[in-house]
Amino acid sequence: MKGIVLAGGTGSRLYPLTKATSKQLLAVYDKPMVYYPLSVLMLAGIREILIISTPESVPPLRALLGDGSELGLDISYAEQDQPRGIAEALLIGADHIDGQPSALILGDNIFHGAGFPRILRAARERLDGCTLFGYPVSDPERYGIGETDARGALVSIEEKPLRPRSDNAITGLYFYDSDAVEIARGLEPSARGELEITDVNKEYLKQGRANLFRLGRGFTWLDAGTHDSLLAASQYVQVIEQRQSVRVACLEEIALRMGYIDAEQCRRTGEEMKNSEYGRYLVQLAETLG
Ligand code: G1P
Repeated sequence: MKGIVLAGGTGSRLYPLTKATSKQLLAVYDKPMVYYPLSVLMLAGIREILIISTPESVPPLRALLGDGSELGLDISYAEQDQPRGIAEALLIGADHIDGQPSALILGDNIFHGAGFPRILRAARERLDGCTLFGYPVSDPERYGIGETDARGALVSIEEKPLRPRSDNAITGLYFYDSDAVEIARGLEPSARGELEITDVNKEYLKQGRANLFRLGRGFTWLDAGTHDSLLAASQYVQVIEQRQSVRVACLEEIALRMGYIDAEQCRRTGEEMKNSEYGRYLVQLAETLG
């Protein structure tokens, strides 16, 4: 399975924070935002990852993550020069996807919860069509919304409905079989001129091949697209990390635990950053797990 992180957009809802930098490079407490979606793909066992961003933001993202080899990953980059919609990521990423199933994640989505790696693995193994991840929210008009029947099967999907039929938001993590690129190629732009990911999902639903996994109570899903949600995400990560003395979305730790890198690589990266607590955490980790 191939991975794509869509880290595009102008981030205009965060101006002036994002006038001169990419939203996905902003801090969510102790690390750049893009670490969080990357961690999800890594936990799903995906190592070949395409990061799509604006022409201005690809160079700093590349400076941050390189070719991924220090994380045992194969990271490549592509540009989306205009915000033409999330589904365009499937077109830009068509060569990268190369006829395989894919996982697409939005660069400002943060997932955290016990058992998530197991959920991701199971979704990958059982993939038939597409798998969407739902999460109950208090402001459903801001999201793609999935309505389910009494048995929990998806019956409708709507993008930012004025009158939502449910509070079940479709999060920005999408697992697709190899048909997604073809479906995206057949889309018409929406009223706002974008290729909507919701329209890809609706096509799978029409074919009876859209599945929903509900991330329920005890699970955290945050997006960090506004000033308040960005601060809330930082505070959330701070509380968990300080209380439990673990790190959320520490890419080197995931790489080490998944066997993508060895303890020596983890220690080297840690040494390079040893003036920060993050760096010292990596050195400590290399000693404990090495
Ligand atoms: C996008 C999708 C929406 C989804 C959301 C998740 O909205 O269009 O369906 O629920 O991401 O973060 P956006 O945040 O681009 O407005």
